[in-house]
Amino acid sequence: MAGTFDISLDSLAGRSVALQNVTSSDSPTASHPDGATFFLETFGCQMNDHDSEKVAGVLLSRGYRQVESPDAASLVLYNTCSIREKAAQKVFSRLGEYRTKQAAGQVIGVLGCVAQQEGEEIFERAPWVSLVCGSASYRKLPELLARIETGNQRVTGLDTDTDETFETPVTRRDNPWRAYLTIIEGCDKACAYCVVPFTRGPERSRASDAVLKEVRELAQLGYSEVQLLGQTVNSYSDPSARRMRFSELLLAVADVPGIRRVRFTTSHPRDFGADIVAAIESQPKLCNHVHLPVQSGSTKVLREMARTYTRAEYLEKVAMLREAKRPIAITTDIIVGFPGETEADFAETLSLLDEVRYDSLFSFKYSPRPNTPSLKMPDAISEEEKSRRLAVLQEKQREIQTARNAELVGETFEILVSGKSRRENQWFGYSTSHRVLNFTSQVNALLGTYVQVHVTGAGPNNLVGEQVI
Ligand code: 5AD
Ligand code: SF4
Repeated sequence: MAGTFDISLDSLAGRSVALQNVTSSDSPTASHPDGATFFLETFGCQMNDHDSEKVAGVLLSRGYRQVESPDAASLVLYNTCSIREKAAQKVFSRLGEYRTKQAAGQVIGVLGCVAQQEGEEIFERAPWVSLVCGSASYRKLPELLARIETGNQRVTGLDTDTDETFETPVTRRDNPWRAYLTIIEGCDKACAYCVVPFTRGPERSRASDAVLKEVRELAQLGYSEVQLLGQTVNSYSDPSARRMRFSELLLAVADVPGIRRVRFTTSHPRDFGADIVAAIESQPKLCNHVHLPVQSGSTKVLREMARTYTRAEYLEKVAMLREAKRPIAITTDIIVGFPGETEADFAETLSLLDEVRYDSLFSFKYSPRPNTPSLKMPDAISEEEKSRRLAVLQEKQREIQTARNAELVGETFEILVSGKSRRENQWFGYSTSHRVLNFTSQVNALLGTYVQVHVTGAGPNNLVGEQVI
């Protein structure tokens, strides 16, 4: 997650990724004619971002070169998101916009959740598309690309009945210091509003040995922070004979020499146990941050959503985190306007915010999605009312964050420096609790290093400070 106040996943869309950091355990083998290029645009969550890094790795190993504009590319790929309707629509408008510009011989492909959801219908809606591949079938991507390269007009990868995960010998990572690493794909939770179980298929975990091997390689390449990913990352179930628990895997990852920070997202409250808190307490390399989506503060709505916990049970998990020996930031996701959500239910969500005092949150208006159980639920909430509730919720959270961040003025945090602002001597980075800190420093070449920053000011979304030398 982005760590600032309420950025929807949609706002992460529309970026094309820069080419850097090819990591490989095998040497790439060029198998494509010289001059082939690809453009890849990614929409959606971190899982999608990381899938795109792996897709880019597959293409680079086939001899393609990545370009920054679709106009110049032999292969134009959109890695799509369908979690809310707006995200799914964006892809079709991209495809529409691009149609007029398509050059002779240019191949267009749709990957990700929209591909999985719409399947071959994409060819009907956009006949200029040649490749449709859902995220549960990415392991077939090299084979699908080979078929396109030999002139096949229409190629699909749409299976979800797989027990395999998407592993590639080559990954092209976007960030030179923090590496994403998928440890579990798919989801078995079946929340009433969510398309993910349909688009990403059933839960499949990677063997702990394979995860640890990749972490060791990453550390050798200079990555100091790893972020373990999964739709329900803490439902991890080691398929190998070692049967490592998620909390044991966290500790083993943190033990890899060279690794300084370990993050993980997203946790499902039902599978969030005391052993995870104990692991964080005992190992400072495990970051002081847990993203624990609640979705609603009303037990009645949670039941309708099939979230499998009550408000009180969720608050027990929060209490566990709050009692930890060091402060652990808690962030969450909230949906407003789920069918049947009354004013009283919504008031319970607001009171939950007061009770938990989240460090930040992502909030969404409920969006009806194809195939999901909630699609046919009665008592839909009007768009207008959803917007009103969202604004009220965001205003409340803004007040909470303003107050919480103000309490941090005067403290000193260790920051992984992630960027430089246009203004001279201005940098930014993240604390272990995933707070954004903008700070001044006279030192050059700070990118990717860890520095101590003294906080001198605070806003709702970030802190400002000065480097302590
Ligand atoms: N409508 C609105 N928000 C949704 N999310 C998932 N499905 C929907 C939907 N149909 C939100 C949940 C989830 C986050 C990634 O997206 O809050 O945690
Ligand atoms: Fe969707 Fe629920 Fe699975 Fe999260 S846990 S991906 S919200 S079905």
